Amino acid sequence: MEFNTEKLNLSSEHDLAQQVGWKCPSNIAIVKYWGKYGMQLPKNPSISFTLNNAHTTTQVKTTPKSSTANFSFEFSYNNEPKPEFHPKIESFFERILPFCPYVSQVHFIINSLNSFPHSTGIASSASAMSALAICMVDLEDKWFQPFSNETQKLRKASFLARLGSGSACRSLYPHAALWGQTAEIESSSNEFAIPITVHENFKNYCDHILIVSSEEKEVSSTAGHSLMNNHPEADNRYKTANENIKSLLDILKGGDFESFCQLSEAEADQLHLLMRTSNPPYNLLHENTLIILEKIKQYRKESDVPICYTLDAGPNVHVMFPNKFKSECERFINNELKSLCENGRIIEDYMGLGPKNMFT
Ligand code: PMV
Repeated sequence: MEFNTEKLNLSSEHDLAQQVGWKCPSNIAIVKYWGKYGMQLPKNPSISFTLNNAHTTTQVKTTPKSSTANFSFEFSYNNEPKPEFHPKIESFFERILPFCPYVSQVHFIINSLNSFPHSTGIASSASAMSALAICMVDLEDKWFQPFSNETQKLRKASFLARLGSGSACRSLYPHAALWGQTAEIESSSNEFAIPITVHENFKNYCDHILIVSSEEKEVSSTAGHSLMNNHPEADNRYKTANENIKSLLDILKGGDFESFCQLSEAEADQLHLLMRTSNPPYNLLHENTLIILEKIKQYRKESDVPICYTLDAGPNVHVMFPNKFKSECERFINNELKSLCENGRIIEDYMGLGPKNMFT
């Protein structure tokens, strides 16, 4: 991807004192990204649903920069300084610098807030990094001449978000996104995600996140990705992922719930099987996770309601179902699954419309 990498002529007070703010959602992968190379590039394409309620709101203000460092910023979370978040933001700025030289020209004052509590075991990096990335691109839009169109702007935001956290690049679009090169879609790329359209059946699709454990994972996603490098099943996995991309694109176009449920669960199961068969092997699922997965399959079989699960790299379960089956699914979740969650905790979410500018 080609970018404008000129330095800016930021001399007036107005240029130096800009303010932008965006609310960006998290996303849940249906076909998983697991295994990477180079600078956060995926070994296989992935497709995610954009969420709505789990989001990060980030405001970025710029002021004149006094230090000679490559970049300078201050970060607060909910208006409180949070030095523990500095290393992630530093590495984000370092990585985006070659593509955004203006980063070295001003001082950034960043304030963020997640809609979901920290201690839920829900990764906030997708929403946090995509929110920060779109703020940067919005500043660029104000400083340079505006991007030639919205597609270019979102592609750059997705490209930058990827450098912060791979899966974050999929959080910039309404409904669903595809990240990674596939023969199925010509404009697909390993460098950024693109939007994909979904059948009416999938719009407002529900995702209730069952918090089985909020403890920090024993093996991070970064370590998990690198264990794919010598995994004996890696080639088979990438082949299956590519086949599943093709099938899921058809399913999302056609609106077939039953095939969606089969594919979603097969992907989640395969992700965790890869973890259990890596060297060294590890397991992130809890006993209650396994009970919940069985109960969901059983309920689907008995009721004919197209309810299914997917999993991230952790023990929490995303229970997915079409909005039109919401009342029976919520009854089932409350009666059968809630007691298996940590303190009965559930985050109710659904497919959303992507980032929102806080200043329009
Ligand atoms: O973006 P990362 O490096 O945290 O990796 C995310 C990997 C999974 O959540 C397991 C799958 C995915 O595609 O989001």
